[in-house]
Amino acid sequence: KSYDEPHRNQFHFSPPEKWMNDPNGLVYNEGVYHLYYQYYPEDIVWGPMHWGHATSKDLIQWDHQPIALFPDEHGYIFSGSAVVDHKNSSGFGTAEKPALVAIFTYHLMEGEKAGRNDFQTQGIAYSNDNGQTWTKYEGNPVIKNPTSIRDFRDPKVFWHDESNQWIMALVAGDHAKFYSSPNLKEWTYLSEFGKTVGAHGGVWECPDLFKLKVEGEEEEKWVLLISINPGAPNGGSGTQYFIGDFDGNTFTTNQKDIKWLDYGTDNYAGVTYNNTPDDQRLFIGWMSNWNYAQKTPTKEWRSAMTIPRKLDLIKLKGDYLLKSVPMDALNKYATSMQKFEKENLDSIYTLDISKSTSHKTSFYIDPDKSISIELKNKANEKVVINYNTETSEFQIDRSKSGITDFEESFKDSMRMPVKTNNIRPKIELFVDRSSIELFFDDGNYVMTLQVFPTSPYDEMTFSGQQGQLLDHFEYSTIKSTWN
Ligand code: FRU
Repeated sequence: KSYDEPHRNQFHFSPPEKWMNDPNGLVYNEGVYHLYYQYYPEDIVWGPMHWGHATSKDLIQWDHQPIALFPDEHGYIFSGSAVVDHKNSSGFGTAEKPALVAIFTYHLMEGEKAGRNDFQTQGIAYSNDNGQTWTKYEGNPVIKNPTSIRDFRDPKVFWHDESNQWIMALVAGDHAKFYSSPNLKEWTYLSEFGKTVGAHGGVWECPDLFKLKVEGEEEEKWVLLISINPGAPNGGSGTQYFIGDFDGNTFTTNQKDIKWLDYGTDNYAGVTYNNTPDDQRLFIGWMSNWNYAQKTPTKEWRSAMTIPRKLDLIKLKGDYLLKSVPMDALNKYATSMQKFEKENLDSIYTLDISKSTSHKTSFYIDPDKSISIELKNKANEKVVINYNTETSEFQIDRSKSGITDFEESFKDSMRMPVKTNNIRPKIELFVDRSSIELFFDDGNYVMTLQVFPTSPYDEMTFSGQQGQLLDHFEYSTIKSTWN
């Protein structure tokens, strides 16, 4: 397989063929990053869910693996997580050779069709060969649907050192629920969070709960990620987060505002890795949006994952902010093609980007002056990225970016309000065959979006308000990770 199809991203993961949605079971073990994912192997639209599987040493170059989990009598295999059971609390492995344990939602279609509301339950499976093959636990489901909650899913499990137990976050429609367990098999309900805080424009999905140190300070805070569909700031699916505390039982926050992880339309259902080296908080999202995910113009496969990002917590102007930093490892695949110290943007600067469909551009700007960046191809299809100082926001217009007719709302422009303390904030722009990822001010703000040009963009132009500049400019091609 060449992986050279027109919209096939070259440095983003996508399945060899057929439908993919959420990343699942993100876990690192014995030198291997596992990526399981919601997968329907028979079609390029959503269907009976399996867990597809891929592995990587650096989160950039992936090897496809056989399907890991198949639907069974309890239902389809929906989203969930995976842990390394180091203490062999489950008895599925040994202390010397700990088992991987996957915790996922069962969705019983027959139950839903019969008009029942208790068709989502939680199940587990274990692997003794570092995630290659899995055995479902005979005691499944391990959590039954308690009170006929229609949306009761997406368990994220982690080991909570302070209380010496496993903690599970899952979602129940308009809130999250927390459970605890000594052994991953028996679960006790703890608490719930969120009915009266945060965004509620749609159903809550794919929670994640983890602790982060505030950069440059002693303080540690807990972060709760919640995907929501619809209700995202630029329409459809998106991911909000809460900063607070978790004591082994309850998550609490003083947060009043709504915080978004990414302002682009195409970063959904993202969660972070368990068991990473150096405790890094590594995140992958599904680079699509339920508004049009099943209609995008690819034929062999559908959709890709975001580039992996390291999440960090900072305080900006007195408020917590969760930033997303693109993985360093990507630089290994980059070749610098153009570099300069400073360019004044009193006239338009044009860059030839025809050498590669996949590239990265980075530079620093003056935050007090507006700038406009355009990606364009021969057919005059273009994406326009504006940073506007009057409104203090980025705006991206993909209405003429290429194929857009599969969904009306795909043409809507998207906005991202920003704040910065920096006199020279950095802009990093990752472009692949069907995606754009914009990181502003070292990842403090992010926009991730899909685009489907009929031929690759081959020219990039930069124009700015009087006095705007491109500082420390670098353009690099990124080589294909498919081989
Ligand atoms: C999020 C989601 C999850 C669910 C899965 C089903 O995109 O709706 O809540 O587990 O997809 O494929």
